[in-house]
Amino acid sequence: MALEIKIAIDGPAAAGKSTIAKITAEKLGYTYIDTGAMYRALTHKALVHNINTRNGQELEKLLEETEIVLRPSINGQAVIVDGKDVTEDIRSQLVTASVSSVATHMGVRQLMVDKQRILAIGAGVVMDGRDIGTAVLPDAELKIFMTASVEERAMRRHIENEKRGFTTSLEQLKAEIAERDRADSEREVSPLRQAEDAVLIDTTSMSITDVAEKISELAEKRMNL
Ligand code: DC
Repeated sequence: MALEIKIAIDGPAAAGKSTIAKITAEKLGYTYIDTGAMYRALTHKALVHNINTRNGQELEKLLEETEIVLRPSINGQAVIVDGKDVTEDIRSQLVTASVSSVATHMGVRQLMVDKQRILAIGAGVVMDGRDIGTAVLPDAELKIFMTASVEERAMRRHIENEKRGFTTSLEQLKAEIAERDRADSEREVSPLRQAEDAVLIDTTSMSITDVAEKISELAEKRMNL
């Protein structure tokens, strides 16, 4: 029987990680874990409670008393915080603009990594984020580092936003994505970087189907090793 493996997908903002991770998890019957949604969930709760996102200690305390549940849904994954569905709320502009600041704090990251490792125990998983291959699941059998040009990523996010019914400026999106890349790559704790044993996939001129296909092929090979 083929072995159930752990698949880590890392890369910069809006590179298509979640879309591909969801498709891959569905194909293999694995659990999909969107770790960005967990940082967003904490950020949303901090904003609701008027907690300064630069205050690591307060955020850590808040996280300790917060229950974050990721539940499979028809759209991929519902995010439930303390029993309340915040799946849509965590995608707001305000959360998006504040989440990188929350993700810089070492204490917060340690607690998140612990939670993420627990979620990955015992089953086949596809986990996406920024530090999965380097910090959360360093032993993952398959590690992917997914990138695309800033222009392409901004365009994809723009189209996605339009589909969800709100208009955004392409130039503004480009600036926001570039700023998030900078913040995620330059932070001291677990900065965004490609793990040495990760496979680099530049999706700039690839279709979703092509990328999903490539990852499935790589996963099959690892499962049969
Ligand atoms: O994937 P996303 O855009 O939803 O992630 C939101 C933010 O969370 C991103 O700017 C960086 C942070 N993040 C992180 O630091 N580590 C992770 N494993 C996942 C996300």
